[in-house]
Amino acid sequence: MCGIVAYSGKKDCVDFLMNGLRLLEYRGYDSAGIAVVNPIGDIEIRKECGMLHMLEKSLSNGPLQGKTGIAHTRWATHGKPTQNNAHPHLSQDKKICIVHNGIIENHDVLRHELKNAGIHFISETDTEVIPHLIARYLSQGMSMKNAFMKTLSRLEGAFAIAMIAKDTPGTIYAARKGSPLIAGFKDNEVFLASDASPFITRTREVLYLDEGDVLIFNGTSSRLFNVSSGRNKKIRTTRLNIKNLSIGLGGHESYTHKEIHEQPEILKRIIRLRLGNNRNAFQMCFNDLKIPDDFFRSIDRIYITGCGTAYHAGYIGKYYFEEFMDLPVEVMLSSEFRYAKPKLNKNNLVIAISQSGETADTLASILEAKKHGSTVLSVVNVLNSSIDRESHGVVYTHAGPEIGVASTKALTSQVITLLLLSIHIAQIRKEFKRKQKNPLLKEIFHLPSKVVKVLQAEKHIRSCALKYHLATSALYLGRHLNFPVAMEGALKNKEISYMHAEGYAAGEMKHGPIALINKALPVICICTASKTYEKMISNIKEVEAREGIIISLATEGDEQVKSFSHEVIYIPETAEELSPILNVIVLQMLAYYFAKHKGNQIDKPRNLAKSVTVE
Ligand code: G6P
Repeated sequence: MCGIVAYSGKKDCVDFLMNGLRLLEYRGYDSAGIAVVNPIGDIEIRKECGMLHMLEKSLSNGPLQGKTGIAHTRWATHGKPTQNNAHPHLSQDKKICIVHNGIIENHDVLRHELKNAGIHFISETDTEVIPHLIARYLSQGMSMKNAFMKTLSRLEGAFAIAMIAKDTPGTIYAARKGSPLIAGFKDNEVFLASDASPFITRTREVLYLDEGDVLIFNGTSSRLFNVSSGRNKKIRTTRLNIKNLSIGLGGHESYTHKEIHEQPEILKRIIRLRLGNNRNAFQMCFNDLKIPDDFFRSIDRIYITGCGTAYHAGYIGKYYFEEFMDLPVEVMLSSEFRYAKPKLNKNNLVIAISQSGETADTLASILEAKKHGSTVLSVVNVLNSSIDRESHGVVYTHAGPEIGVASTKALTSQVITLLLLSIHIAQIRKEFKRKQKNPLLKEIFHLPSKVVKVLQAEKHIRSCALKYHLATSALYLGRHLNFPVAMEGALKNKEISYMHAEGYAAGEMKHGPIALINKALPVICICTASKTYEKMISNIKEVEAREGIIISLATEGDEQVKSFSHEVIYIPETAEELSPILNVIVLQMLAYYFAKHKGNQIDKPRNLAKSVTVE
């Protein structure tokens, strides 16, 4: 969701800003823009609705030059995706120019106040109040720094902001509250971006702006302030210890395809990291988890929270924690967490799951949990993300950068991590029973090769998708551990193929969705070997009796399911706890080919954003 890139230094910055926007494309956007202070000291802007090539075209018709600049990809919240609403936004006197990620919740009040003072608004955005407010404080005689700080103190909601000003041409201003912003430093250059990818090849000395931080770089030196106290803060940079982000397609037709196929390697990496190489004497390793064992012995309830796919991973995780421990476990959507008023206390463990580590609702749930004294453990992919930094303990999922907007490898990395984590905590609490331990842990080592086998079904899944991709709706059914898998399968389908889909607990089908079943409805039934197998068979029979199209996922060798299914996709035999991982990969591929046969743009589905930084 909205990406920011900015630069100030000795070099022309237009190419850097445009490359940076390209690297942030995965966040999702519907318009883009760039502004620089040009060689004669004026602020010049180009902005366009649509994809980045529109902005590139505009730049080739009217090139820009400048050594200080800001750029933005916008994912529309307030106001349609139009050229006027695209960022950057200017003050009326054209002297202040800003880009913003987040939502200014009190923009109505501020807009009203500014309109009364004679300001004419160009856009429908919440953002436009910011440059006008700064200009107004300047006109009242405030210094640039004070006008910027004063404006920030009046903004309610979330923001990451970068600003340039005509009267201070080599200076760049930045602020953060609730939305991510990272600064990179090199000699007399400063880089700003929503994540480090735009400048990782230029510098690794970075500052993750904290809540309320304001950074001002004047061409030679940087100063950091806290917006509430106005006090100076010491700039403490950290050195990024990561390889250049691998963002190539590696021969795949799309990032989503690549990421689906990366899953065996990622699972292997996580299993080795957490269990070691010795299959006979595995030693759980969670060194990154900075929460003392004693706390795990004292917890009396676990809450798991996340959004979208991460919520589904959490739902599967709930079953693991409940299976291995005698503790109540609740899973809650992060967007509902605060409003449901969970009875949080200091003996609660709140597990927050997030690929990006930036999802606004998940972050807000963490803050809520901390406010009540609960301990927050996050399961996160992106190091140093906001959720990583706000949590008491973090377990990384090591999935590598996920570019496709619809999560694939993030989910399976979260699920295996949650499984291993639940066993680890159950061991600390002395609740993990020996007889459970060995067969399951041994089977975990076979998981990556079984995922390879599942991926070999791609051709079959592709042809199955070809038969049904024009269906207007689909129903996904599963039970117990595979109920969240059904929800995830339906979500993938909606996200990338735009087919309406519902993921249901199979036992609930007769309480509503059964009314939808007819000859045209594909019903995807997850019926691999499990405790609930017989019950699942009964539910499929109910679909058969109403002539629905039955597409089943079954364990290799299962002839019974085959006998009443229109299509069967076979999955290698595995431990029940691991079946969600194998099954969900089939559903990822099914959604992928539904989307592909429809000719959809899979990596960047319409209206969606990879990193949802607004509530
Ligand atoms: C967006 C993405 C989803 C993702 C969800 C949660 O909706 O499009 O793929 O599952 O956010 O994101 P997170 O980064 O917190 O896992």
